[in-house]
This record gives sequence, C-alpha cells and structure tokens, in this order.
Amino acid sequence: MKKPFLLVANLKMNLLSRDEVKQYLQVLHRESEGKRITQAEVIMCPPILWLNEFNHLPEAFHKGAQNVFWEKSGSYTGEISPVMLKNDGIEYVLIGHSERRLYAGETNDIVRTKTHSALKNLLMPIVCIGESEEERRRGMTHSALEIQLEGIFSGLSKLQAEKVIIAYEPRWAIGSDRTPTTEEIREVKNLIQNYLTKHLDEGTAERIRVLYGGSVKSAYLGAVSWEAGMDGVLVGRESLFPYEIVKMLGLYEQYQLAIS
Ligand code: 13P
Repeated sequence: MKKPFLLVANLKMNLLSRDEVKQYLQVLHRESEGKRITQAEVIMCPPILWLNEFNHLPEAFHKGAQNVFWEKSGSYTGEISPVMLKNDGIEYVLIGHSERRLYAGETNDIVRTKTHSALKNLLMPIVCIGESEEERRRGMTHSALEIQLEGIFSGLSKLQAEKVIIAYEPRWAIGSDRTPTTEEIREVKNLIQNYLTKHLDEGTAERIRVLYGGSVKSAYLGAVSWEAGMDGVLVGRESLFPYEIVKMLGLYEQYQLAIS
C-alpha cells in the first residue's frame, strides 16, 4: 500500500501561553477549512503541557510528543512515561532530536533505549538522525548516519522496525536556512534504504518511512522531499505558521494530481 506523505510539525519550545495555543489552533482550523487532505497525514508535536489543547484537530491531523522516557513509571522526576502518552491518546513521539542530543546529552544508546521502549508501549517513534557540520566537511556523513541507524535498529524485530519513522535532519541545516541539495538528500535516502534492506529485508525497508528535516519551507518543499525520494518532512520554524502547513499540504496534493 502506498505510504501517505507525512508532515511532522515540531513546534519545539514555542507557544508560551494557553492563549497563544488557542490562537494558533483557531488559525489552523480557519486555514484548513474546506481543504480536503487526501494524500497526506500531519503529526502535530506541541510542547507536552499543551498536548491536550490539541485534541480537536482538522481531519488527517494526529498528535505526537516531543520526548519520552524509557521507564514506565517510578522515581524519575520530570520525565514522561510512554504509558502516560499512550493512555492519553498520543500515537507518535519524536526521539533523538539533535537539540535533545545537544542540550540534554542524549547519546545513541539513550536513543536506542527510548526507541525500543516506545515501540514496546505501542507508540510510533519518529527517530532523528543527522550528521554535524564537521562530519560533513570531513566526508563522514555516511559513517555517522550508519552508526546512528545501528543504534536504532539493532535488536528490533522486523514488525517493530517497520513502525519506526526515520527523520534525516542534518544538524547544520536546522534553524540555518541552509539545506542539502536534492541529490545529497537522495543519496542519504539510498543509504538508509540499503542499510535497512541489508539488516531487515526489502519489503520491511520499503515500509519504513524516511523524512527530511532542516529549514524546510514551502518554497522548496518538493526539492527536499518527493523529488529526493523522501516520504515526508519534519518542519520546525515554518510549522509555527498554520498557513504554511496547509500550503505545504496543498503543494503535495497538486503534485499528486500532476503525476496521476
Ligand atoms: P527548522 O525547520 O526550524 O530548521 O527546524 C528543523 C527541526 O529541527 C525540526 O525538528
């Protein structure tokens, strides 16, 4: 079955009050009114405190959390259990975002533990991987990505593995207004596909969705996603503008019409 295009909106640590959240959602509903989304799915990832405010979303929109802990319950001050998320109707969770690797010291081991725990607790993890500027300059992009892929997939069954969504976010492209070329993204997509085919099998590899993230804008949406063979995008700053989210969905619908 064809995988729907996925747009993940990472609102990061923005929307500072309940009023701001309400306003954001009002605009989102207004912008999406009357626009049928048939080819795509959206996952909104607001700050954890506001997740419940996102209960009523337009059709084809789902909710995701920005982080999760690996234990189910206990003395872990400040952490959120995967069971809490699941019990509260959350389906997806971002894991291993480079900002968490940078500011919260998340290592590949932690990313693996969190990913495996999320899967065991029936959440769908959107796991971020990406090379640093330095790794890119030294021609180490592929080896850096392979190490991160190994961290995520080793020890997973095929059935678990196909629930993972990979988000390729080069660290130097986040918040920078710089993006890799379509060709570079395509190369990374091939690398991921080959890795998954080798370690799982071709069918499983094809079912695993791979997204691009890092300075995504509607102006060059196609170039960083479908033209590069990606199954969707992970959007940061632009997702703070509901108009932009809806515009991107419209662009994908147009592209689908054009090729059908
Ligand atoms: P920007 O789109 O703001 O570059 O952020 C990308 C990102 O980190 C999404 O998770």
